[in-house]
Amino acid sequence: MRLDRFTCRSTELTKEEAQTSIQNGLVCVNGIAILDPSVQVHENNHITLNDQPLTPRPPRYLMMHKPKDTICSNIDEAYPSLFNGLNIEKKSELHIAGRLDADTTGLVLITDDGHWSFGITNPNKQCKKVYHVTLRNPISSDVKEALTEGIMLQGESKPTRPAELSIIQSHEVMLTITEGRYHQVKRMFAAVGNKVINLHRVKIGHIQLDLNVGEWRFLTEQEIRSFDQ
Ligand code: URA
Repeated sequence: MRLDRFTCRSTELTKEEAQTSIQNGLVCVNGIAILDPSVQVHENNHITLNDQPLTPRPPRYLMMHKPKDTICSNIDEAYPSLFNGLNIEKKSELHIAGRLDADTTGLVLITDDGHWSFGITNPNKQCKKVYHVTLRNPISSDVKEALTEGIMLQGESKPTRPAELSIIQSHEVMLTITEGRYHQVKRMFAAVGNKVINLHRVKIGHIQLDLNVGEWRFLTEQEIRSFDQ
């Protein structure tokens, strides 16, 4: 972890304040003042600020029910940031493990543990994501077969990985995918001449959304560890 991040994680300082403290020589690693905020440090190093030892806060893991017309970014852009609805300190240290489009709703996992989120977003891990999809046109069984076997998306050279699809009603399906390509669900249905008119994520791995729109909660120990299996 970078020294400025470590300092920030161990104090109430903002990232800018942590960087200034480092540049002013107030932060020592194993007894030596380090002036470069980008230096990589390890939790086993003895790190002090003004001679006081620093211990980083434990990592945080939470889920949120993303409302429509919010963006999975730490700052407001064309739409307000999802993080505006998160009443928690040091939000800028958090990131989203698998973003959703502005018009997509549902389960979002948020953390400051990059190793954990990589275990969810790394395509090689094949973590399952389940979406409730509402379509403009009815779904046919041959299309179901094409989508579940894998389909070529426009502008890509490899077909999508096999997916699971269960039909709820003519215009409504549950789709399970193990990748997270750009706009993947919308592009999969576009590739078979259909259009997604509503998209909602209900599950990631073993973690099921159980909140009302806009609500958030910390994950349980069991949920956090469920990606280790
Ligand atoms: N696929 C999409 O097309 N959009 C999302 O938000 C998530 C998956």
